[in-house]
Amino acid sequence: AAAAKLGGPLQGKRLVVSAGGTREPLDPVRFLGNRSSGKQGIALARAAAAAGAHVDLVAANIDTGLLSGLPENVRITNVESTLELQTQMLASQPEADAIIMAAAVADYRPAQRTDSKMKKSGGEGLTLNLVQNPDVLVGLVQSRPESQIIVGFAAETGDSHHSALDYAKAKFRRKGVDLLVFNNVSEDRAFGHDDNAVQILSADGTDVDASVEFHGSKDDVSEKVIAALVNRMECVES
Ligand code: CTP
Ligand code: CA
Repeated sequence: AAAAKLGGPLQGKRLVVSAGGTREPLDPVRFLGNRSSGKQGIALARAAAAAGAHVDLVAANIDTGLLSGLPENVRITNVESTLELQTQMLASQPEADAIIMAAAVADYRPAQRTDSKMKKSGGEGLTLNLVQNPDVLVGLVQSRPESQIIVGFAAETGDSHHSALDYAKAKFRRKGVDLLVFNNVSEDRAFGHDDNAVQILSADGTDVDASVEFHGSKDDVSEKVIAALVNRMECVES
């Protein structure tokens, strides 16, 4: 494990990074989930730790193999559902200089979780009732301490009406974050792969400014994101 760079740009800073994908329980053995591996969030935690930060990694259902060998200035808390993730993020927020929400959060969860295993019954289909999950990121933006920097992620595709970038810009405004890492998934990249193409959106006066699209490994992307974060933190301090 790489040692933290003494005097790195995030020396003495505390970051909270969410990673992985939430699972919404249906019964004791079943859940609704997504395919997020957690690799991007782990790469971010590594990059932040290498820059000297103390990192709280909130890991949603990440393979233990991927979590092993992280530097000692990364502390891991495992969570499963979106509500657990939210509780942990809100608990960690007051001490944080910056928060990065890289986790893939389920938009909906089953309206109820049964205590015993659901039985198959009848010969017909099954309709599940879902309720909307809270938007963890928006909640964090609303309760943030002064000068805390908050970074969101968005994977978008375009359609016949709007480009993926247009959707990302709209999401940036809606979420109220300082930076939004926009992942263009129109071309089949991202999930589970080691390569990525991102643009970093930030507020630029009255409009949303998008950096040029950057291609690279999740480690390369993480370094870009951490550099943008460091830059933003320095702006806030001065
Ligand atoms: N996010 C969150 N809580 C949710 C949903 C999303 O905190 N319930 C966060 C994600 O971690 C990510 C950002 O919000 O940093 C954008 O997630 P995304 O799914 O793209 O946004 P949504 O608002 O859910 O919009 P969409 O309808 O496109 O899914
Ligand atoms: Ca969503």
